Parts: sequence; structure tokens; C-alpha cells
Amino acid sequence: MAPLTIRQYGDPVLKQRTRVVEEIDGKVASLADAMLETMYAAPGSGLAANQIGVQRRIFVYDIGEGARTIINPQIVESDGEWTYDEGCLSVPGLSWEIVRPNAVHLVGLDLEGNEVSIEATELEGRVFQHEMDHLDGILLVERLDEDQRKEAMKALRSRTLGLPARDPDGLSSLLSM
Ligand code: NI
Repeated sequence: MAPLTIRQYGDPVLKQRTRVVEEIDGKVASLADAMLETMYAAPGSGLAANQIGVQRRIFVYDIGEGARTIINPQIVESDGEWTYDEGCLSVPGLSWEIVRPNAVHLVGLDLEGNEVSIEATELEGRVFQHEMDHLDGILLVERLDEDQRKEAMKALRSRTLGLPARDPDGLSSLLSM
């Protein structure tokens, strides 16, 4: 299977809240496979289903410890504060220092339908929060402070929508999710 096209900033699918997965069947497993392939090809460390146009509450991630799929995720607790240079595969070539809680407690289901409960900090916690935002129709540009937002809008306006910007150094893509 070839990697799928990642929906880009400006695509309305990224602004819609995704729907709960009612049944974890073979279609969900195939979707997770396609999402992982797309994420690795990008490359990125996380990907939400609506980034490939599927309005379901599923995300995949890999922060260097192996691939995981989380279905119907919820953050039930968060704590602390951590600043991280965050990038998004749907807003390629750009990244911003964003402050979010450091520690989060995520619950959800795996592909076998088993409950998962993960206490995460730093990069893993950041991926969880970023992907939860995607599933709720929120992009990272909505998490910027006023000055960052002005810069971001300028950068995004100067770009032709639909043509992903290339990242000449390949730096920000490593942080993208
Ligand atoms: Ni993203």
C-alpha cells in the first residue's frame, strides 16, 4: 500500500470533530496500517485519522519505542508545563514553541479492544495532546500566542494552499505529528 495524502492546512476536514469508533473490526486495523505507513513516510511521530480524511477517533504514534494505535482516546488528567518546538504534518515546514501540560494520563482502546492507560510526559505527552486536538478539529496554530499567531498567519498566507512546503533542512519534519 502506498502512503496516503496528508490533508493540509485549509482543508475543512481538519476543522471537524471526529466520531467515536463503535466497532473495532478489520477495517479499523487496515486504517491503522495505512495511517502508520503514511506517518513513517512523512516522516512524523504521530498522525490522527482526520489527517488522511477519516472522521474517526483514532491516532497512531511512534516516538522511537515502536508503533502504537489508540482508539477513542481521552485525556483524563494533565499536570505541569512543558515548552516544545511543535510541528504538524498538516502545516509542514513550520514549527512553534508551544507551552502545554507536561504530564498527561491518556486512556483509550487498542486494536484488540483492550483498554489502555498511559501516563506520559514530554514528547509522548505532547504527541497525545497534539493528536487529541486533531481529533477535536483543532490545529496547533490555534495554540499559539498572539505574536506567534501573527507570524504564522503571515507564513501561511504567503504559501499556495494545496502545495506542501518543502522543508529544505528536514528539521521540523522530525518534530511533526
Ligand atoms: Ni498535526
